[in-house]
Amino acid sequence: MRIDVVSIFPEYLAPLELSLIGKARQDGLLDLHVHDLRDFTTDKHRSVDDTPYGGGAGMVMKAEPWAQALASVAEARGVQDSKPVLIVPSPAGERFNQALAYELAEEDQLVFACGRYEGIDERVIEWAEEHFTVRPVSLGDYVLNGGEVAVLAMVEAIGRLLPGVVGNPESLVEESHSDGLLEYPVYTKPASWRDRDVPAVLLSGNHGKIAQWRRHEQYRRTAERRPDLLESLDAGTLPRADRTV
Ligand code: ADE
Repeated sequence: MRIDVVSIFPEYLAPLELSLIGKARQDGLLDLHVHDLRDFTTDKHRSVDDTPYGGGAGMVMKAEPWAQALASVAEARGVQDSKPVLIVPSPAGERFNQALAYELAEEDQLVFACGRYEGIDERVIEWAEEHFTVRPVSLGDYVLNGGEVAVLAMVEAIGRLLPGVVGNPESLVEESHSDGLLEYPVYTKPASWRDRDVPAVLLSGNHGKIAQWRRHEQYRRTAERRPDLLESLDAGTLPRADRTV
């Protein structure tokens, strides 16, 4: 997969050189490029923002540097059958979740446009729809100073789903949200720690019982912490008979 990120703070994306994602890049599993939006300006001050039409607080990102930057990354990909996906991180976007991470992990190119200030001139989004599949995406119902932190989170969530990135793909199956439920609690040695014992079933060696206990804990935890997830569970993928709470 190729990922392009356009930002006025390319250094913000430096953590993508570390850990699992950094290793995936080194191993050639992920081809990630970070671009400075200011490189696509033509004026002496390399300006990327201006005052909003209609008045109001703050500044708006100018259209032309964005059009230049996005055209350049689309071109770098070469001619393809499908349009690349342009993700615009925004608190006004659709909510990012594990299902969307899986969906985006199937794409061959993702472009992230990191807005700052009050946002990007809306005409850029309209123009981009001719060349990209545009998806404004929100990390959650709160406001960040810009899209960079959201991109760090999304690239990590998507990148770890690419084939070969996570050493043991089994761990992707068992983690929170992979089946719409939260993960069950986990324990390691010692079996007794500060008067707290590991649940006996986990020491029983009975794999059927252990699987049943873990499933129950997933539902119990989800009901307690995220009842909204149970409401939206797809009855087709998880039989209701499976529920124990
Ligand atoms: N930019 C600012 N706030 C954001 C949010 N909640 N999600 C994604 N991008 C953002």
